[in-house]
Amino acid sequence: MEKIMNVGVAGCGYWGPNLIRNFSSLPDCRVKQVCDTDESRLQHMKRLYPSITTTTVFEDLVKDKDLDAIVVATPVHLHHELAKKSLLAGKHTFIEKPMATSSAECEELVDLAAKKKLTLMVGHTFIYSTPVRRIKEIVDSGEIGEIQYISSRRLNLGLFQKDINVTWDLAPHDISIILYFMGRPPVSINCQGKAHVNKEIEDVTNMSLNFDNGGFAIIHSSWLDPNKVREMIIVGSKKMIVYNDNEPLEKIKIYDKRVETPPHYDTFAEFQYSYHYGDAYIPHLKQVEPLKFETQHFLDCIRKGETPETSGLDGLRVVQILEASSRSLKKDGARVEIDLQKGKTGVPA
Ligand SMILES: NC(=O)c1ccc[n+]([C@@H]2O[C@H](COP(=O)([O-])OP(=O)(O)OC[C@H]3O[C@@H](n4cnc5c(N)ncnc54)[C@H](O)[C@@H]3O)[C@@H](O)[C@H]2O)c1
Repeated sequence: MEKIMNVGVAGCGYWGPNLIRNFSSLPDCRVKQVCDTDESRLQHMKRLYPSITTTTVFEDLVKDKDLDAIVVATPVHLHHELAKKSLLAGKHTFIEKPMATSSAECEELVDLAAKKKLTLMVGHTFIYSTPVRRIKEIVDSGEIGEIQYISSRRLNLGLFQKDINVTWDLAPHDISIILYFMGRPPVSINCQGKAHVNKEIEDVTNMSLNFDNGGFAIIHSSWLDPNKVREMIIVGSKKMIVYNDNEPLEKIKIYDKRVETPPHYDTFAEFQYSYHYGDAYIPHLKQVEPLKFETQHFLDCIRKGETPETSGLDGLRVVQILEASSRSLKKDGARVEIDLQKGKTGVPA
């Protein structure tokens, strides 16, 4: 039997309880202590999990010698401060997305984890979801050809955040999925947006990412939409995939559709597009909660000393793209070049 892994969780608001539920359900894992500055959230957790110890002071987690790992699921502006304390205390650390509020903060955490030989993982949850992993297999098999572009829409009414705009809140999911499918970082970003409700914080944005192989991606993020939309379309040179995460069962549809131009033509009159309409199919997907896979992966990486699929470096890359989007937003959508090969401290990508 594996050694029981003791986990502490900071932040029991909307998302933290999902992490607590999943870590608690894993064999050989115990959520020993949870922390929140809001006493009412702790009382709620205690009702659900009577054996858990609660505290309003984060330092209690750090000082707890039994804890192997700490999970940070607080508002984003606290991620760096709490994760740094956790790593300095020798705890393996899981940070919710986005990893921190700046790439400098992310780089410091990546360096610290490397120096102390600790596992650092970021909660890019969708990388652990069955539909995203199936699409990745299909893309890598060559079935849809070269990815020409990806279009992603993540829209809903709220939940308005006070410390980050809608891109920083919702787009980390789209960015992490797009990087996973593209297998390369973008070379430039454009982002436009508007702040309607809180005049300081954009609640609707449109970002585009350009890749050095000609690939292109568009991300539309909104807290101001009547419908909850979770849709990504991956257009390949041979086939197209529609991924609708709101569908209960048929989340992925693969369309054998494409447009071809004739290989040779002498006159414009001879030129004709050829539209190919083939069959569509819906692969069967096993229903597994992504968080179950994600939390298990964190513990497996700690035990085996392996790098997580969504490591600190992946968190850094996403934050570098978010920073570039903020720079572009300030310049009303101007193109911002980025080089994610190296961070400021020379962290290799
Ligand atoms: N992976 C995902 O799919 C996903 C989904 C939603 C949210 N998130 C992320 O989870 C994190 C939390 O988001 P949320 O929506 O749960 O926010 P939230 O505001 O609902 O909850 C945050 C909680 O942290 C507590 N808190 C504040 N300061 C604290 C401190 N110093 N120590 C301990 N607790 C403290 C607050 O009292 C609150 O209960 C964010 O990083 C967010 O982006 C991830």
